[in-house]
Amino acid sequence: MKKRPHVVVTRRLPDAIETRMRELFETELNIDDVPMSPDALAAAMQRAEVLVPTVTDRIDAALIAAAGPQLKLIASFSNGFDHIDVEAALKRGIAVTNTPGVLTEDTADMTMALILAVPRRLVEGARVLSADRDWAGWTPTWMLGRRVTGKRLGIVGMGRIGQAVARRARAFGVSIHYHNRHRVAPQVEEALEATWWDSLDQMLARMDIISINCPRTPGTYHLLSERRLKLMRPEAYLVNTARGEIVDEAALIKLIASGAIAGAGLDVYENEPMINPKLLRLAEAGKVVLLPHMGSATIEGRIEMGEKVLINIRAFFDGHKPPDRVLPSML
Ligand code: DGY
Repeated sequence: MKKRPHVVVTRRLPDAIETRMRELFETELNIDDVPMSPDALAAAMQRAEVLVPTVTDRIDAALIAAAGPQLKLIASFSNGFDHIDVEAALKRGIAVTNTPGVLTEDTADMTMALILAVPRRLVEGARVLSADRDWAGWTPTWMLGRRVTGKRLGIVGMGRIGQAVARRARAFGVSIHYHNRHRVAPQVEEALEATWWDSLDQMLARMDIISINCPRTPGTYHLLSERRLKLMRPEAYLVNTARGEIVDEAALIKLIASGAIAGAGLDVYENEPMINPKLLRLAEAGKVVLLPHMGSATIEGRIEMGEKVLINIRAFFDGHKPPDRVLPSML
C-alpha cells in the first residue's frame, strides 16, 4: 500500500472535510480547535509533510527555516496568504497553495451588507428593539441615515471580489468606480459601467463609499494611509472586508471621531483578534459597524474551501501541479 502523506491541520474544519482528510491521508486533526502557539506550529512543521494552516496561524520565515526536511507543502485553508512567508517557503522548496474563488460571492455579500448597514444605521436601529429599551414609535426626523442609491462607490482592488461587489452595488443604483494596478478588460468595465482611476488619491477624493477589496501584500500595507484617508470627503464611508493592515486603523479612528470621515463598516482589523477599544466606542456611538472577520463564513463556502485543500494535497502527492499554487508572480 502506498504510504499516505502525513498531514497536520491546525484548526477544526467542517466535519465532512475532516472525515475525508482522514480517509485520504495520515491526518492529525485539532479537535479542540485551540489556536496553535508558535512552539506548537514549529513542532508540527517538524513532523508534517503537509501543514494545513488558516489565517490565524502566522507562518513566518523563522518557522519555515526551522521546518523539518519532510515538509513539502503548506496547503492553506484560506483565500489570502499574507499569514505565510511564501517567499521563504518557496526558497526552501516548500510549495504553498490557497483556496481562491470559492468565497468570492460570500465575501461580496458581506461587503454589500456593510455598504448598506453603515449609511442606513442598520445595527443602531436593531439595537433599539431590545428587552431593556422602549421604542417611542415612528417619527419623521428620527434614525435618519443616508440614501445609498445614486451614490458613487470606489472599489480599491478590482479582482474577483471587487467585481462581485460591483455587480451587487449596481443593482442598488450605485455607480461604480475603481482603482486597480491594472485596468480590467474593456468588456468587464462596460458590463459594470465602471470608471477606472489610475490615481487612487483622485478617486478617494470623489467617492461617497470606498470599499477595500485588494489582497494584503507588502505593497498594500497601509495603502489607505493617514494622508490618503484625509482625502476622503466628510460624508464618505469606508468599508473593509479584505485585511485590516491595508488601512491605517489609528488614523481611520481619529478621522471618524473628528467627523472628517462619516463612518466605516469593518470586518477585518490590524491586530486581530484584538480590537482597538476606540473602535468599540465608535460602534457604541453608531459611527462604525464592526463584524468579527466573517465575510466568508458560510457553511457552503467553508466546505468548498476544504475541498480545495483536499484537491491541492491530492494533486501534489499524485505528482501533478496543485491547481491553487501560490506563485512568485502573485506576491
Ligand atoms: C481568507 O480565507 O483569506 C479569509 O480572510 C477568511 O475569511
